Amino acid sequence: MSKIFVDACLRKETPYTPVWMMRQAGRYLPEYMKVRAEAGNFLNLCHNPEKAAEVTIQPLDIVGVDAAILFSDILVIPNEMGMHLDFIKGEGPIFKDPIVNEADVDALLGGEAAADKLTYVYETIKLLKQQLPEDKALIGFTGAPWTLATYMIEGQGTKTYNLCKKMMYSNPELLHKILRKVTEVVKFYMIKQIEAGADVVQIFDSWAAAIEPGKYDEFSWKYMVEIADYIKSKYPNIPIIMFPKGVSAFINMGGVYGNFDVFGVDWGTPMSMAKAKLGEKYVLQGNMEPCRLYSKEETTKCVEKIQETMQGEGHIFNLGHGILPDVPVENAKHFVSECQRVSKK
Ligand code: CP3
Repeated sequence: MSKIFVDACLRKETPYTPVWMMRQAGRYLPEYMKVRAEAGNFLNLCHNPEKAAEVTIQPLDIVGVDAAILFSDILVIPNEMGMHLDFIKGEGPIFKDPIVNEADVDALLGGEAAADKLTYVYETIKLLKQQLPEDKALIGFTGAPWTLATYMIEGQGTKTYNLCKKMMYSNPELLHKILRKVTEVVKFYMIKQIEAGADVVQIFDSWAAAIEPGKYDEFSWKYMVEIADYIKSKYPNIPIIMFPKGVSAFINMGGVYGNFDVFGVDWGTPMSMAKAKLGEKYVLQGNMEPCRLYSKEETTKCVEKIQETMQGEGHIFNLGHGILPDVPVENAKHFVSECQRVSKK
């Protein structure tokens, strides 16, 4: 049976434009909070394949999205490379010993050995393959090397990125050494997710906009393209989604290239601009401003406008970034059903 989401990624005819939401498995769902409480905490939940599979499926049943995204986190990668990860309530992720010098990078586990430690992720995918309805696709994912490096260098989320940027301008060799090491792990990680059963993979470069447009290719995009090339060399039919958040200027400069299928458009980039610059070469995913979900009317208006721009051609509906924890479930359902309604052929 064909999967509407995979077909849309490959620009095949579909009965309507499929929809999913970044961060669709999460705190806005009471059912998620219940399973997280049973697991004890967020990381335990990521490490428990049965429970991780359960929360992966929740938004399909509750909200009606057309694809499932593996429940995990991008930061399990540096964690398994040897950096101790904690999620502290109210503060988010913390690495106690961030990278400061070359010896710190050398001490990290690299390559396939690091990817092999993420067995709980592959186990979750295998369980999901048994549990998901045949017509629903499973999206695997990774963080882009740059986005992962920001946490590995800053030790936590940051508003200024001053430590990473100090490294970018005063010791670029060290930053490239980190990016290279992470890239090699991610290549194996992606292949292993696909071999476990992921139908599609997405590369999240959530903090792309921290890099000035003229440096974006050197410090992030080229590594993402290298990962995509590697995946395509082994699995040419697996669709790849690139999501570099906040890089309108880079798009405008004609900086987007590479062998992938879908470009994730963030909410700050006009869909019409993305379509004009990239729409012929790539299927576009996105891009409602996630805060529109606080109002059903504003949601409907935006969905209609996106549909008017994209006309159901080479498009996947999504938010322009992740759903927030205080969005009413009812409004998320409204978004999904509106996307399916306006695009029905
Ligand atoms: O539903 C899904 O999208 C799948 C699961 C998923 C999570 N994180 C679960 C999660 C995915 C794809 C991610 C990716 C991720 N993680 C990104 C890239 C995507 C994006 O939103 O830009 C980033 C930057 C992270 C790092 C991360 N994880 C942060 C900064 C935080 C804390 C902030 C927050 O939202 O709480 C997390 C925690 C996290 N990852 C949660 C979830 C459901 C919340 C944990 C909880 O239950 O308390």
